[in-house]
Amino acid sequence: MASGRLSIYDRSGVVAEFEDAWSEGHSLPYSLVTNSGTAALHSAFYGIGLGPGDEVLCPTYTFFATAASLFQLGALPVLVDCRPDGAFDTNHAAALVTERTKAIVVTHMWGLPCEMDDVVSFASRHGLDLIEDCSHAHGATYAGRRVGTFGAAGAWSLQTQKLIAAGEGGVLATDRRDVYDRAQLLGHFNKRAMKEMDPEGPLYPYAVTGHGLKYRAHPLGIAFALPQVAELTDWIDAKQRYARRLAELFHRIDGVTAVTLSRDGRVSAHYALLFEVDPKVLPGGRDWLVAACNAEGLEDMDVPKATSPLHTLHLFQAPTSPVTSYDRPCVRAAYPVAEHLAAHTFKISVPCAPRAFEDEDDRYVEAVGKVTDKIAGYLAERRAQQASARLAPVGRGVE
Ligand SMILES: Cc1ncc(COP(=O)(O)O)c(C=O)c1O
Repeated sequence: MASGRLSIYDRSGVVAEFEDAWSEGHSLPYSLVTNSGTAALHSAFYGIGLGPGDEVLCPTYTFFATAASLFQLGALPVLVDCRPDGAFDTNHAAALVTERTKAIVVTHMWGLPCEMDDVVSFASRHGLDLIEDCSHAHGATYAGRRVGTFGAAGAWSLQTQKLIAAGEGGVLATDRRDVYDRAQLLGHFNKRAMKEMDPEGPLYPYAVTGHGLKYRAHPLGIAFALPQVAELTDWIDAKQRYARRLAELFHRIDGVTAVTLSRDGRVSAHYALLFEVDPKVLPGGRDWLVAACNAEGLEDMDVPKATSPLHTLHLFQAPTSPVTSYDRPCVRAAYPVAEHLAAHTFKISVPCAPRAFEDEDDRYVEAVGKVTDKIAGYLAERRAQQASARLAPVGRGVE
């Protein structure tokens, strides 16, 4: 605000500082700040050259913005089921590859990285570009390497609820000059595109106007997000501790299992911690438990609603695009695993102990413990009453 530069037209100021920090943190040469995660994904898809007729393998178990911008390009998302922990299932994807398939996009759901060795080898086996939607997974790592660095580009949302938050914003990172150049063109016309694009490239003559979109971020939001980047590793560490404690607390309730804890070289950013409830063990299942915990004041615990499987949403059942018409569907299979997760899971926020908030975060986890203990106690008592009610008539009969 002191600089008086509330619009940044080229790669300079706080935008350049954020991009440099992001590139350094991800060991990638190019980062591009955008005004949303959706814009970052759109830029990545345009960056790899997708257009009408192209198909992209896309998880059904994700937030719809992972795939929705494909419709703006006339490309078609083809929905793929997930594994029991919500990660992209390459076995299911294999049956959906066609001669039109050009790319694959994966989401590291709730912060837990997908099985990237498997995803990368699947993409290279089929000659597909890989895009990672890391909007839940800032700073998450797979085999020690940050997500967003495994394919043609990574895209992150910087919206308020995200781990690195600008209010609204997004960022794309890539090691491919062609992807970076094309992304400039989509939303960063004139000064930035003219300075950043390869002047010898075939698209350079369009640099002054771009393609009609503007994806520049508000510098105040990016200034707000910038200092958070340096905290990321500490926050991820703290999140591991809090997530383990939350899992222990909920595991006191029979039938509840944490689904997205870090394991096997997959370190989650814990955007949220996902739990599954087995209704055969806990009568009333997930919905009863969430209602009971909410009634006890645990407001941070809920059922993912906006993140419902994409094959249940009209846009994916009847795909439409402003630039083409489709004669092929997005929904080409059954999605039992995603449906199971949608029916039986709840999520809860995981704190990350930013400096000066440690006490508050500890109090939050203690409050969760009081509620889970109370519910575990109530359920044990109910089970004991039911058991004695079942025994009573027999006992009286013997008397
Ligand atoms: C998985 C996922 N992808 C993409 C997005 C889109 O990000 P934005 O809201 O910044 O456009 C979000 C967040 O809202 C998200 O959760």
